[in-house]
Amino acid sequence: MCISEMPGIMALRKRAADDRPLKNAKIVGCTHINAQTAVLIETLAALGANLRWAACNIYSTQNEVAAALAEAGFSVFAWRGETEEDFWWCIDKCVNAESWQPNMILDDGGDATHLMLKKYPAMFKLIKGIVEESVTGVHRLYQLSKGGKLSVPAMNVNDSVTKTKYDNLYSCRESIIDSLKRSTDVMFGGKQVVICGYGEVGKGCSQALKGFGCVVYVTEIDPICALQASMDGYRVVKLNEVVRNVDIVITATGNKNVVTREHMDKMKNGCIVCNMGHSNTEIDVNSLRTPDLTWEKVRSQVDHVIWPDGKRIILLAEGRLVNLSCSSLPSFVVSITSATQALALIELFNAPPGRYKSDVYLLPKKMDEYVASLHLPTFDAHLTELTDEQAKYMGLNKAGPFKPNYYRYVTRMLKFRKSYSTGSF
Ligand SMILES: NC(=O)c1ccc[n+]([C@@H]2O[C@H](COP(=O)([O-])OP(=O)(O)OC[C@H]3O[C@@H](n4cnc5c(N)ncnc54)[C@H](O)[C@@H]3O)[C@@H](O)[C@H]2O)c1
Repeated sequence: MCISEMPGIMALRKRAADDRPLKNAKIVGCTHINAQTAVLIETLAALGANLRWAACNIYSTQNEVAAALAEAGFSVFAWRGETEEDFWWCIDKCVNAESWQPNMILDDGGDATHLMLKKYPAMFKLIKGIVEESVTGVHRLYQLSKGGKLSVPAMNVNDSVTKTKYDNLYSCRESIIDSLKRSTDVMFGGKQVVICGYGEVGKGCSQALKGFGCVVYVTEIDPICALQASMDGYRVVKLNEVVRNVDIVITATGNKNVVTREHMDKMKNGCIVCNMGHSNTEIDVNSLRTPDLTWEKVRSQVDHVIWPDGKRIILLAEGRLVNLSCSSLPSFVVSITSATQALALIELFNAPPGRYKSDVYLLPKKMDEYVASLHLPTFDAHLTELTDEQAKYMGLNKAGPFKPNYYRYVTRMLKFRKSYSTGSF
């Protein structure tokens, strides 16, 4: 079903099938395993790659998909509801196999990279490139690079415009509603919600909930994002200021201990607590595993945590990514991310020696534009072509790239600030 909603990755599969640009690539994949990932895996195989795959999250695997992939002959190590120990066992199995020397890593969160680097350093040295999808994994890569420990080139797919804007913003805008509705049947109108973090994910969640009539508060550490939130009509607060009154708390920071036991002690009865960020440490769930609190599973991915006075908070997915645990992602958005990942793999795998050093790179802008163009026919969108005169006037190539690398496609407020500071309205 999702194939028809994934036009970009299917177009790429068709266009590159004859060239097989990933012939001889041996890819370790560590991502969420769902129907859309299967389309990516089949595409990479059609482009010539040999693959082994594990899950990057213990709750998000669609078992039927993992089984179907295994039946089709792919080496997949994942199931829904792995323990922490199973999780690392699966990645280890995926990385380390007889007569298998991987040369590429496709990671989401940096766990496959981390395991290979720590446990199999000799194997890691022979890797040609890493493609990383998440904010968290990219952060780890930059830390490795800064510490001089990154010995291979890596592509930061997360910050490709085509990934950040569509996956983090538009996808989360839809899936936050879906996951809260499916797991709690909550009515949104008039509810007070606090969203921690006003980055791409936080912006998507805030927009969606505001659209349903929620009163939305935002917490931020960054004055730029806090100002954006204020100008977008949200009250920017400290969590402590609203935590006693809100009905829903959502984290979207990629940070740790954003919601602590102290906050949860103050929450009101029935408060829903969930996390949209990659890391499962945003909500300090471990602090809830104390003898004075009782846990009651009310349905899959939904726990009541009960205080001695009878107060309950509703914790979703034990603080892990709520949309991937309690709902699914829109295939169209995944198509954009998958096409970006596939192109990044092709680019790193085929790059002539010297083009990329042991550092973290962004996908060239031209490829971002290519991924977007693969998805335009779905909307019957007709691009305007530059005339020769216009191209000369703007100093652009008629075939792109159309924007400089530093152009971030941000909200009007920031663009306004930039042109104001350069005096170029
Ligand atoms: N659920 C999903 O489907 C999905 C999709 C994409 C990304 N993500 C994950 O969501 C997280 C956020 O992604 P993003 O693209 O919005 O990143 P981002 O960097 O654009 O935004 C995160 C924001 O959180 C703020 N922040 C950091 N610490 C904070 C704190 N203690 N309190 C309040 N605000 C704080 C930062 O200033 C930043 O503005 C990442 O972990 C990312 O991997 C999830």
